[in-house]
Amino acid sequence: MREADAGNPVVTLSDDVVTLRPWSREDAAFMAEAFADPAIRRYNGVLDRLGRPAPPLSVAGAETVIDEFASSWQAFATTARPSGVAFAITNARSGDLVGCCGVDDWSKADVAQFGYWIAPGARGRGYATRAAVLLTRWLFELGAARAFVTIVAENEASVAVARRAGFVHEGTMRAHGVWQGERCDVMWFAALPHEWAMRGPDDQAPQADG
Ligand SMILES: CC(C)(COP(=O)(O)OP(=O)(O)OC[C@H]1O[C@@H](n2cnc3c(N)ncnc32)[C@H](O)[C@@H]1OP(=O)(O)O)[C@@H](O)C(=O)NCCC(=O)NCCS
Repeated sequence: MREADAGNPVVTLSDDVVTLRPWSREDAAFMAEAFADPAIRRYNGVLDRLGRPAPPLSVAGAETVIDEFASSWQAFATTARPSGVAFAITNARSGDLVGCCGVDDWSKADVAQFGYWIAPGARGRGYATRAAVLLTRWLFELGAARAFVTIVAENEASVAVARRAGFVHEGTMRAHGVWQGERCDVMWFAALPHEWAMRGPDDQAPQADG
């Protein structure tokens, strides 16, 4: 579902278990708390050249991040190509915030890269897989020729999300990342619209348990 509002598009995507909606400044405390989680800092945070994470986000810092997302949504209203936009992942019934997924980049060749995280207390319930499926379906509807995620090889929970969401492991870039001074391998998962098994409107993710 998409509503245009004077250059401020509000895009929401839902499968009735999770709803993806744009971030609002009122969500900043949730984002700041999530970014204190070591796994989110490692796999979604900004790292320096030695792989050291940036300091945890303050609530004010989270508000700045959310403002940047809003600017990217405004750019999307003009370009129709999402880049730098992010959705809050919420429980569709309660509206509770559970995580984030966003489009990091949309290339000139219509290749979209995205990422995701789920707050520690909301993991293990299928929210990330459902969000990845909804986001990918939207990217293909917008004309993406390819969608991909890169995952540090030891991040088994994220590898499982990519596989459950119908992504194909295309290869592993050896020593592509760095974490605390140590090189690490990075896996490449991608989906193409014509072969992605979860594209059809009737082809929903499996039932969630909570
Ligand atoms: C990676 C991450 C998002 C995965 O979260 P998750 O909650 O494990 O993933 P899902 O939302 O797909 O949930 C999967 C679990 O829910 C269960 N589940 C329940 N209902 C489900 C459904 N409808 N669909 C899929 N899984 C479901 C699965 O069995 C699985 O449980 P298991 O791990 O015990 O086998 C999370 O660990 C995280 O945020 N990590 C830190 C940041 C990070 O790594 N981000 C990714 C960077 S590439």
